[in-house]
Parts: sequence; structure tokens; C-alpha cells
Amino acid sequence: MALSNHGPRGMSFDLTGCTALVTGASGGIGGAISRAFADAGAELVFVIEPGQDATVRGCGEGIRDVVPLDLASHEGRSDSLGALVEKHAVDIVVNAAGRITRGASESFEDHDWYDVIEVNLHAAFDASRAAGRAMIAHGRGGKIINIASLLSFQGGINVASYAASKHALVGLTRALANEWAGYGINVNAIAPGYVETPLAAALRQDPERYDAITARIPAGRWASPDDIGGAAVFLASAASDYVHGHVLVVDGGWMAR
Ligand SMILES: NC(=O)c1ccc[n+]([C@@H]2O[C@H](COP(=O)([O-])OP(=O)(O)OC[C@H]3O[C@@H](n4cnc5c(N)ncnc54)[C@H](OP(=O)(O)O)[C@@H]3O)[C@@H](O)[C@H]2O)c1
Repeated sequence: MALSNHGPRGMSFDLTGCTALVTGASGGIGGAISRAFADAGAELVFVIEPGQDATVRGCGEGIRDVVPLDLASHEGRSDSLGALVEKHAVDIVVNAAGRITRGASESFEDHDWYDVIEVNLHAAFDASRAAGRAMIAHGRGGKIINIASLLSFQGGINVASYAASKHALVGLTRALANEWAGYGINVNAIAPGYVETPLAAALRQDPERYDAITARIPAGRWASPDDIGGAAVFLASAASDYVHGHVLVVDGGWMAR
């Protein structure tokens, strides 16, 4: 275990010797974070949706394991994540898996609500609990990073389950940070702005929405997934050892406007 929350490592962004479990690793942001972690020296354990391509390009030799697991299914999820955390002595967890349903709430089917909450919130709790348990039991500390959203602060348009899940994810981040800071476990979140990934494809394919959103971003552009990698390395490394329960907004200035 290379992470130390004590001692003179407060300036180190090096992840050599650390193992990071990343959910949603086949996605845009999860993939970019994985590449950034690999560049910083970490070894990687990927959780991907069953039946999907396990390839995450640019991670070199750093991939230790790729595990298909349907995070929308409560059945066995907690045990599987717990076994993975123990097997690989995971130091860092990134909850990057996410899904979104767009539509008027009055027309939502049950699954439009439950599936989103299941992946975005319940699975993140299961992974965090598994990691927290192991880190406390082995006394080794660690880092947990939840991928929140601007819709952790705003309601959005026709995305009720997503906004609810992302608000709750920030609450969970703060609650776990309070509980586990004393064990040397840092629980924080990143709230990306508008990022060019499949999750936001519907917005990018709507020229009016796309232009309106872009015009409101002070940086004048959407984020590339790689824009999120540096913030994740910071929150995964000893450089953030005294950062607890923080939501790091990486949004091109959207929230400042
Ligand atoms: N894009 C944005 O503008 C934006 C902004 C703020 C926050 N975020 C958050 O960033 C995170 C990553 O999203 P992204 O933008 O990178 O989108 P993405 O490319 O669609 O990635 C989402 C990932 O979640 C995985 N996933 C979804 N349902 C799953 C399930 N049931 N079991 C296991 N894995 C599942 C997907 O796997 P498959 O690809 O195999 O389905 C994919 O790897 C999400 O939490 C999202 O809410 C995104």
C-alpha cells in the first residue's frame, strides 16, 4: 500500500504502487481517469457492464483485472465489489459508472427512476462501503472519488432521476467523509461540467441546446474527458491527504457564472 495520509508526501501526485478500482471504466470519463491513473503509475481494476468492450486504450501494462458486473442489479453486487476490493487490496475507488434518463417526470416508467438511482447512487454506496470496510479493517487508509455532476447543484431539464441521484451522491460523499476521515480515508467528489461523452450525446445532437450550453460556459467549450483526469489524480494521491468531503467542480467556469 503506497498511499500514506501521514508524513511528508503532501506534494506527491505519484500513484506508483497503488491499485485503483474504476467503475464505468469503458466510458468516456472513467476511461480518461483510468489513463491518467496509469500515467501516474497506478495499477487498475476495471468494472464494466457485461457484454461491453473491455478495452480501455492508453492504460499500458497497468490493467490488473477487468470484471463484468451489472451495477443496475442489486443482486450480488455488494459481495462482488467486496471480493474485488479484497482480492486486489484496492487503495483507490472511482465511482464513474452512470446512466441518465431524459424525459418529463410525469411520463417516467418505474425503471427510468429506479435504474438510474441504482447505478448512480446505490452502486456507488456498495463500492464505497466495500472499500471503506477493507481499508478500515486493514488500517491502510485510501481514497474514494465519486463522479457527481452540475446536476448535484441544479435541477436540469427533464432529468429528475439523474439530478436526484447526483444530489444524493454529494450527500453520500460528505457523510462518508465525516465517518472515515479519522481512518485516513479521503472521500471526495468531482463534479464535471458538460463533457463530450456518450452520456451527453442527446444534448450534443440537439444544435439549439448544444449552442445554448456552449455559450454559457466561460471557457467557451465543452470538456474533453481528459480534462477530468488531473482532478482525479489529485484526489487519488497524497497531494489531497487533507481534503475531505470536497466537491471539485471541473466545469470551464459554469458554476461561477
Ligand atoms: N458527460 C457529461 O457531461 C457528464 C457530466 C457530469 C457527470 N458525468 C458523470 O460522469 C460519469 C461517467 O459518465 P460519462 O460521461 O463518461 O458517460 P459514458 O461514457 O456513457 O460512461 C458511463 C459508464 O457507466 C457504465 N455503466 C452504465 N450502466 C452500467 C451498469 N448497469 N453496470 C455497469 N456499468 C454501467 C457504462 O458502461 P457501458 O458503456 O458499457 O454501458 C459506461 O462505462 C457518470 O457518472 C456521469 O453521470 C458526466
